Amino acid sequence: MMMDTEKAIAMLYGPARAASNNAYSPYSGVRVGASVLDEEGSIYSGCNVENASYGLTQCAERNALAAAVNAGVKPGTIKTLVVYASGFKVLAPCGACRQVMSELLANDAVIISCQSDTDFQSWSIAELLPDAFVLG
Ligand code: THU
Repeated sequence: MMMDTEKAIAMLYGPARAASNNAYSPYSGVRVGASVLDEEGSIYSGCNVENASYGLTQCAERNALAAAVNAGVKPGTIKTLVVYASGFKVLAPCGACRQVMSELLANDAVIISCQSDTDFQSWSIAELLPDAFVLG
């Protein structure tokens, strides 16, 4: 069952915003946090981590998903991801994150980008990445 958007924000906005405070982003200055909720009710978070070799930068969304997988959460079972960044009207997830989300989130997941807990936009994974690349 897809979680109600307001309930998802109530649970994940705080953790995503807190994670953004850990951002390591000396090059862009953009601070992003993301949190996911697993079927057990556990929350995993990540921030963006940049590098002087710019292309090695890891986005908050992918780091949150990696934290969940590292903790043993089964890929394809996460139904809710909230991302937060201050200073954006809407932070739309980048293409690389959309590809990773399409593999690690559940097919019926909701992805919510928050500017505040009342100002947000949400998408399904099919809206973010129609016709995703898959192997096999
Ligand atoms: N970034 C994210 O963490 N998530 C996104 O969805 C878009 C971009 C980060 C990467 C980089 O550290 C900074 O924001 C500027 O691109």
